[in-house]
Amino acid sequence: MRMSVPYMIGSGTLGEGAAMKRRDFLIGLGAAAGTPLFVAPVRPALASRQMRDLTARPGMAGLLGDGLPQTPIWGYDGVAPGPVLRFRQGQDVVIAFRNALDQPTSVHWHGLRVPNAMDGVAGVTQEPVPPQGSFEYRFRVEDAGTFWYHAHNRSWEQVARGLAGMLVVEEAVPPAVDHDVAMVLDDWRLENSGKIHEASFGSIGEWAHGGRLGNIFTVNGGPAAEIPVRAGDRVRLRLLNSANARILSVRFPGHAPLLVALDGQPVDPRPLGEEAVTLAPGQRADLMIDMTLAPGASAAIEEVSTREPYRFATFRYSPDPPQRTAPLDPPARLPDNPLPGEPVLDGALRVPLRMEGGAMGRMPGARIGDGPTMGMRELAAAGKVWAFNGVAGMPTEPLVSVKSGRTVVVDIENDNAWPHAMHLHGHHFRVVARNGNAVARSDWRDTELVHRGERVSIAFVAGGPGKWLLHCHMLEHHAGGMVTWVEVV
Ligand code: C2O
Ligand code: CU
Repeated sequence: MRMSVPYMIGSGTLGEGAAMKRRDFLIGLGAAAGTPLFVAPVRPALASRQMRDLTARPGMAGLLGDGLPQTPIWGYDGVAPGPVLRFRQGQDVVIAFRNALDQPTSVHWHGLRVPNAMDGVAGVTQEPVPPQGSFEYRFRVEDAGTFWYHAHNRSWEQVARGLAGMLVVEEAVPPAVDHDVAMVLDDWRLENSGKIHEASFGSIGEWAHGGRLGNIFTVNGGPAAEIPVRAGDRVRLRLLNSANARILSVRFPGHAPLLVALDGQPVDPRPLGEEAVTLAPGQRADLMIDMTLAPGASAAIEEVSTREPYRFATFRYSPDPPQRTAPLDPPARLPDNPLPGEPVLDGALRVPLRMEGGAMGRMPGARIGDGPTMGMRELAAAGKVWAFNGVAGMPTEPLVSVKSGRTVVVDIENDNAWPHAMHLHGHHFRVVARNGNAVARSDWRDTELVHRGERVSIAFVAGGPGKWLLHCHMLEHHAGGMVTWVEVV
């Protein structure tokens, strides 16, 4: 049996002395390899209404594992990641949110089609909730799938401090599985003391590069997870990348997962094969994994985006024989969600979105809001190092103003040196062209990774009225200027 290897992601931005090495911590301490993770889903009652309290407050988290220093975090209900919120499709949800932090905050429901006033974007769809303040979020969960919720005020700091959690909406008739497992994957920048590395918050140099990367990888707020299973079981695994800026890749040696949903929307079940599933910040994937090994076996789940694969979770088979005699039928496609419809490209509104700036890129200059055109140096002094269409930060005018029901195509052009994870609030879109080539019926996404040098056109049908953010989900890029909005009227 292989032990989970303690992990340190080389961030390259901290001095050697400051860089945290969990391995060093663990040597001689005999820390446990992982903690049991599986919790049987508590199926919400069929009531059409669900009420819940949710409080953002400081807490302590055992990010490094047992016997190692704890980390002071900000978390929903004081834990990081926040509790998995589980609802049923079609329910009316009321979330009584309270802010017990010293900083104003708000909660965004990433991927959910909520009324604009409930979208949780501080300064755009609501005033930030002040310390000791509260806000009632009310919406119907229209789509089943794997979503998440996170802070949307100073998110580059607040999400990095732990204000993020998974939100699961169960299908009216959930597919038969033996285990429904949620895994929130994250990276953290910690000091040797276990404290969050605060000096790097707001580092413009990092904002102009790939963002603030962590040096510690966690799954559900710890170094490793165990999934106890029996041979013949079926696991539904819900993966979320809640990191500020790091792109993750996950592989399942020994098993043959089927990908069944991306960003909360069903896809035709497709085998991953040897391939890793890549998750940009904000993205989710749902996988069906049959436990095809023998009783007593174990197999890893690995993160493979760095040189050294990191085993962050283990399927631990019990020695007992399978609980069923015949294997399960292959998983069917999950039922489609009631999205507002297929994009119609003929006569669609088309807008370009040029991504400019960043280190090693060129940005002739940009404006902040309605202000005068500024040079790179001046912009950086104002905390802006990125721009969309020549505007750094939230523009006063929307990227496009569109009637509900009409199709919009955004032609995204990344001619800078970095990948960007573009997220559109309140909508799912399809990629309809990549580098000039038409793409037919790609997967629905709410967050799409646009690599350096790529041109990606996305299309969506304008949904509910309001101001919907479109931004890079590398949260430092967002803060550094990569944000605009779509107005639906
Ligand atoms: Cu996941 Cu604008 O956010
Ligand atoms: Cu970006």
